[in-house]
This record gives sequence, structure tokens and C-alpha cells, in this order.
Amino acid sequence: MAILITGVAGFVGCNLAVEFIRSGNTVFGVDNLCRGRQENLVSLETHVRFGFAKVDMSDLASYRSALSALQTREQITEIWHLAANSDIPAGIDDPYIDLRDTFMTTFNTLVLMKEFGIDVISFASSSAIYGDLGDRLLTEDIGPLLPISNYGAMKLASEAAISAAAECFLKRAYIFRFPNVIGAPATHGVVLDFVRKLKGTPVKLIVLGDGTQQKSYLHVEELIEAMFFIHERVQERVAIYNIGAGDEGVTVRFIAEETVRVASPGATIEYGNGNKGWVGDVPRFNYSIDKLRALGFKPRMGSAEAIKKAINQIVAQELSQ
Ligand SMILES: NC(=O)c1ccc[n+]([C@@H]2O[C@H](COP(=O)([O-])OP(=O)(O)OC[C@H]3O[C@@H](n4cnc5c(N)ncnc54)[C@H](O)[C@@H]3O)[C@@H](O)[C@H]2O)c1
Repeated sequence: MAILITGVAGFVGCNLAVEFIRSGNTVFGVDNLCRGRQENLVSLETHVRFGFAKVDMSDLASYRSALSALQTREQITEIWHLAANSDIPAGIDDPYIDLRDTFMTTFNTLVLMKEFGIDVISFASSSAIYGDLGDRLLTEDIGPLLPISNYGAMKLASEAAISAAAECFLKRAYIFRFPNVIGAPATHGVVLDFVRKLKGTPVKLIVLGDGTQQKSYLHVEELIEAMFFIHERVQERVAIYNIGAGDEGVTVRFIAEETVRVASPGATIEYGNGNKGWVGDVPRFNYSIDKLRALGFKPRMGSAEAIKKAINQIVAQELSQ
């Protein structure tokens, strides 16, 4: 019995695969390596309980062949669907990116789950489905949901498709709404962006926006702990959980100053205007994790500690390249 992870060569996917292998599972992974990297799979590839297929999941016929081939090795019983576009600004410029990589990857996964008789899905959704609701508390049951990015829209559409599939053939669907997740190996995100900018120009860091954007950050280690915690305990047909650090978060100014301190002490920081990093960016949000807490999960790291840990990891990652 095997677990399939989509987007396995990405940041969260490769960390999740390592945890599943560590706990004795067989793990198959698919990825087209458009944003994920083969190097992220190095420690997994030699493992007898790991299998990988490079495939574009938006192409149903290729995805079906890849899954068939993996299934001959061991029956897949569950899919953790993480493949998506993770470059939100790119999806604003070209909406087809999120249609293809964020929605069609979900749609095709559901088509194949039905065909292959796989009836449990865990889905990496996002706080982006809530849109910009200012200071309103974001609990799992609020609506209407009006995302402000194509990425958020296609994640919400994916949730809807999963809900419809649950009515039809899925036994269980876990919808995890991630906050901003950080750690290594980073493939995108504010810390990686700052570290790379400083690598290019060590004396100056140019920041998009005025630095007052404030968000909560969760380290990938805790994200995985939280998902496993929910998965072990919740038996609802469609279980939706916000996952987060449960604090007010930190500002971009804090992240910029901490990154400069570690990566390039003495560099000056130059801020832009306005409190949005890009169109579709949600500058502040009040994310509730009461439902997760009620289940008994207590986040250990706050946003500041998670950011500091990730900065050290990402600086080391970039130095090694
Ligand atoms: N990291 C975060 O802060 C964050 C926040 C909210 C939600 N999420 C969600 O969590 C999941 C994992 O995010 P991540 O940070 O690891 O991103 P990532 O970009 O590192 O990983 C996504 C992977 O999906 C793959 N992929 C994309 N389109 C594909 C396609 N058509 N076919 C096959 N593979 C494809 C990419 O190559 C990449 O390896 C994503 O669904 C993302 O939307 C992440």
C-alpha cells in the first residue's frame, strides 16, 4: 500500500515524502519539475520504498500512464495533492498558469482517483482562498469567499471540485488551508527572495512595498506535524482545517532586518510604497486556528522563531549552490 505525493520535488512535497518514508510507508511521487527540483529528491531516490515519475499532471493521458506504471509496483491508497503554481504574481500576469498547474492538476487527480479506485485525498489549500477581508477573523466556515488572485481562485475551485467528488466517490477528503510556510529547501517566498537579492547586491536590499505587510508564518516541520495530527484524528467526509502559527505574525520589515543581519550585515534596506508586495497580495490577515487548537494541536514556534530558523536554513542552502 503506497501514498502518492503530487508536487513531490517541491518545498513541502519533499519534506512530506521524507516524513512518510521515515514512518515506514511506501511513497510514490509525481512532479513535472517546473518549479520543484530533482536535487530535492536526492535523499529519497535511493530508497527502496520510494518511486518517482516526471510528468505534467495537467496532461491527463500522461498522468494516467505514470500512475498506472507506479501502481504496478504497489497499490496507491491515498493521494496527498501538493502540485500547484507557487508563483502567485506570475499567475496574475498569465491566468492560464493557475488554471493549468493549480486547478487542472486537482481536476485530473480526481478523475484518476475515481478510475483507479483511490478514495482518500489530502489537499494543500491556502489562506489565499479567503481574499482580502481586512481584520475579519478568518475561520473555516465564513463566506462568501472572494479570492483576489487567480491562484486563490483556482485553489477555491479545487476545494469545490474535491467537495463534489466526496459526494460522488471519495471516502475522505482533508482540505488543509496553509498559511505562509517557510523552511528549506525553499523554492520561492520572501526569505529566499531577500537572500538571493543580497547575494547579488550585498550592500543593499530593495523591498517591494513599505514593509508594513504583516503575516503569520509557519515552519514546514510544524505544518507536517499539524497535517498528520489532523489526519490521525478526524474522520469527517470533508474535513477543512486552517493551519497556522496562531499569532499575529511578523512584518516584512522584521524579515528584511533579520535577513540582512544573517546574510549581509550592514546592508541598507530600501522600501517601496504601499502595503502590497504585488497585485493579489493580501497585506494583513487575521487567521483563526481555533478549530485546530480545539483538536488538541498546539503550535510550538511563533512566526518570529520560524522566520529566524528559515533564514539560517535558506542562507545555508544558497551558500551551498
Ligand atoms: N509554501 C507556502 O507558503 C504555501 C502556502 C499556501 C499553500 N501552499 C500550497 O502547498 C503546496 C506545496 O507548495 P510548495 O511551497 O511546496 O510549492 P513548490 O512550488 O515548491 O511545489 C509545488 C510543486 O508542484 C509542481 N508542479 C506544478 N505544476 C505541476 C504540473 N502541472 N504537473 C506536475 N507537477 C507540477 C512543481 O514543479 C513543484 O515541485 C502547493 O499546492 C501550494 O499551493 C504553499
